[in-house]
Amino acid sequence: MQIPDIIIAIDGYSSTGKSSFAKIIANEFSFLYLDSGALYRGVTLFAVENGFINDQCDIDVSGLEKALENLDLHFGNGGTYIGDRCIEKEIRSLSIADKVSPIAAVPQVRAFVDKKLREFGKQKRIVMDGRDIGTTVFPDAELKLFMTATPEIRAQRRAAEMRAKGEDVRIEDVMKNLQERDYIDSHRETSPLTKADDAIVLDNSDMTMEEQMIWLKEIMAGRFGC
Ligand code: CDP
Repeated sequence: MQIPDIIIAIDGYSSTGKSSFAKIIANEFSFLYLDSGALYRGVTLFAVENGFINDQCDIDVSGLEKALENLDLHFGNGGTYIGDRCIEKEIRSLSIADKVSPIAAVPQVRAFVDKKLREFGKQKRIVMDGRDIGTTVFPDAELKLFMTATPEIRAQRRAAEMRAKGEDVRIEDVMKNLQERDYIDSHRETSPLTKADDAIVLDNSDMTMEEQMIWLKEIMAGRFGC
């Protein structure tokens, strides 16, 4: 089966399994997987550690904008890095999740991340997940998916994922975080989370990963003859 050189854009609400699905797609088709949310989380960690955001989520936008000029945030072998420091574990914590949506609503932060993401688009054969990939980052992506699931299922999945990594979280706190992020992400002015007109909706509330893959392969076969 020959998969064409395409970009697959996956957007959707928090914890709908976008990144798990994207990783499996990348593995199956030998595509490069890119997690755009990791860059927003990386900027958030940087902002927290350098005092550009406080606990009330007030942001020193001009200070952060200036500091971004020298921020070496990138993907490497172990995931996401600032310089040669792997930040993969820190950026997945609930304390970063609690601040990432306000940071991601800052237009200067979006411009910083978009520039990095678009560089990858030159090479095709990528699958990227996020909130605005099909609408803003790659509006010409050949295949766009929009993922959703019930809030209860999403909170359960995310809490299980965090507990497996050793973070002791309460379902209520995870649920609250998901709902707050969904609200901020959908209502911000710059590139809000919204389904692209040509995106295909996948509600995976009651689907296994195998079922999702069968669903996707049918779409690929119909659209690209592969
Ligand atoms: O994995 P999860 O769905 O919880 O979120 P994520 O993909 O790691 O993204 C974390 C946050 O980054 C989101 O809640 C958004 O605020 C922001 N984000 C964004 O604004 N645009 C993107 N393309 C990706 C993430």
